[in-house]
Amino acid sequence: MANITSVGVIGAGQMGSGIAQLAAVNDIDVWLYDTDSEALIKAQNSISNNIQRLLSKGQLSQEKSADAVRRLRCSSRLEDLHSVDFVVEAIVESEQVKKSLFSNLDKIVKSSAILASNTSSISITRLASATSRPCQVIGMHFMNPPPIMKLVEIIRGADTSEDTYCATKCLAERFGKTVICSQDYSGFIVNRILMPMINEAFHTLYTGVATKEDIDTGMKLGTNHPMGPLELADFIGLDVCLSIMKVLHVGLGDDKYAPCPLLVQCVDAGRLGKKRGIGVYDYRSAAADTGK
Ligand code: NAI
Repeated sequence: MANITSVGVIGAGQMGSGIAQLAAVNDIDVWLYDTDSEALIKAQNSISNNIQRLLSKGQLSQEKSADAVRRLRCSSRLEDLHSVDFVVEAIVESEQVKKSLFSNLDKIVKSSAILASNTSSISITRLASATSRPCQVIGMHFMNPPPIMKLVEIIRGADTSEDTYCATKCLAERFGKTVICSQDYSGFIVNRILMPMINEAFHTLYTGVATKEDIDTGMKLGTNHPMGPLELADFIGLDVCLSIMKVLHVGLGDDKYAPCPLLVQCVDAGRLGKKRGIGVYDYRSAAADTGK
């Protein structure tokens, strides 16, 4: 596998914009694609601000930061990604939508390109089945926020080749990440363990055992977690948490993974967490107080 010099990132939300930033500051040309042009504008502004912050902290030189900005291009035309070496998909956590994207990408990008998914839980083997290159499809699961968190979880689908695995690991290491490897079973390693804990925190709140503040404080001070589970769920996005619980429930076939009704209700009400200003907690008044 030749050295990767260009990547396409699909989805300019919280994960995609962070992954695009990581690539650009690590000397890789990036095409960032989203169907929503507002998401692209928001992502471009946020990446520029982050690069500016790295520059002012002395973590990036003037030359490197200008280079990173130059390397980032945004598009709402999937065809613009035709010549990239590597694609990371970070769109909505839906198997059907991701499969349709992988099938389209397979027809557009060059035959040597690797197609990676940042999915939190969906089967890589099934995403690969939507393409004519299953040996070049892999899971590359970044943690949130991608520029800060040190881990990348790599998931091998049933047909993922050794070359694809090595190229993906090498790319993650160029980004300064530590890699762990999971076989392709629902939730992989991190979310298989994390999401049932978050779901249990919702049950603890739902059944009136304690307040949200006490649940989060209990887990922060009692188990040394940097964030409480409900606070973390808001940060991840309650829609993402619910999608992952559904995948665990179906994939592992045990009712202990059934999503808590309170989590379902929050998503039904559009309370998706920090990104919407309200989830378990209400962030809108805090934002108004600080004028953000
Ligand atoms: P998000 O909701 O912030 O962003 C998703 C973006 O994808 C949006 O900008 C949307 O316009 C775009 N999109 C949706 N369908 C599309 C399509 N068909 N083609 C092109 N763009 C499309 O979501 P987030 O949180 O960035 O999650 C993205 C993926 O990353 C999901 O698979 C999620 O499970 C995974 N992930 C999320 C983490 C988190 O903490 N939020 C952590 C690790 C992985």
